[in-house]
Amino acid sequence: MLFDPYVLGKLSLRNRLVMAPMTRNRASTDNVPTPSMANYYGQRADVGLIISEGTSPSADGLGYARIPGLFNAEHVAAWKPVTHAVHQKGGRIFVQLMHTGRASAAANLPAGARTIGPMAEAMPEPIYTDANGMVPADVPHALSEQEIAEVVAQYAHSAKLAIEAGFDGVELHAANGYLIEQFLNANVNRRTDGYGGSAQARNRFALEVARATVLAIGADKVGMRISPYGAFNATGAFDGLEAQYLELVRELGELKLVYLHLVNHASMGAPEIPGSFIAQLRSAFPLVFIASGGMDRARAEALIGYGATDLVAFGRPVLANPDFAARLAQDLPLNAPDFSTFYTPGDAGYLDYPTLAAT
Ligand SMILES: Cc1cc2nc3c(=O)[nH]c(=O)nc-3n(C[C@H](O)[C@H](O)[C@H](O)COP(=O)(O)O)c2cc1C
Repeated sequence: MLFDPYVLGKLSLRNRLVMAPMTRNRASTDNVPTPSMANYYGQRADVGLIISEGTSPSADGLGYARIPGLFNAEHVAAWKPVTHAVHQKGGRIFVQLMHTGRASAAANLPAGARTIGPMAEAMPEPIYTDANGMVPADVPHALSEQEIAEVVAQYAHSAKLAIEAGFDGVELHAANGYLIEQFLNANVNRRTDGYGGSAQARNRFALEVARATVLAIGADKVGMRISPYGAFNATGAFDGLEAQYLELVRELGELKLVYLHLVNHASMGAPEIPGSFIAQLRSAFPLVFIASGGMDRARAEALIGYGATDLVAFGRPVLANPDFAARLAQDLPLNAPDFSTFYTPGDAGYLDYPTLAAT
């Protein structure tokens, strides 16, 4: 089942394995994708669907060092070899649109860009910069309602460029404490205008981004990733979380987003998501569901087997195994990921994980 083809929207996937989005910081210092990135993703095209690393839809969203952008012609040209490398091997690839929002430091931003967020309050966690190591996160500029509309339009524009660059679709990153979750999360968003103060108002930005992106490229090419109960980037649970997310997911279903991707970082030390809530999310969303976090073959097969998910995403195992699908299918041993090179520049720990054939 795991290794059988699957139809996602209008796309046929060669199997139900998904490469989870992983920031690797291998773009150029001015945020342009590199030939090494084409090589890296091409190596991993034996999974049914690759979701790229977090990629910013605007200059203001480039709050981490060496993450890629997708908002101008230079980015489109530099992404084309990446999508081509994946397609040539029969793979599929969505780009994850990640706006860092308040998870940002000025030293990482290009000239003229600024750190933005729902509130003018700094994230209470430091940010890595190439220039000065760990530094405090910037105090963001709190977006006005007019400015929010401009950011929504940036996502839609970036999604159009993604299709031009050859991506099969986009994943809107509404998880892990980046801009969209900064609006969703009541611990971060304490606005009192149309974008905060109630569950409906906190969901509004996510839904506006989803709607604009659907209008730009079609619902069959748009997915969303969420992380309720996640704690990353100083978010965390809040009163009314479950009801708010269930409403969000119902509305995403009405927009006919092609998939809902649930982050479960219990395997990385985050609080467990109650199983009953995961089941409610799954049944509130009528289209494709992707589960992720700490998966192995047995767990993936069990979840698909009893209908708890449609696709299963793997992060670190795919990072460390270019031939992940082949190894999993034959129950062969996996390379262990090397944490020390997750985010470092250069090809070490990026392109040199061996395939089994090479070991
Ligand atoms: C190096 C690294 C970078 C990551 N970057 C992102 C990212 O850009 N976007 C995202 O949604 N999740 C990101 N994640 C989380 C993964 O997508 C995934 O949810 C997590 O690794 C748990 O899955 P796993 O147990 O299969 O590794 C990252 C994880 C790792 C290890």
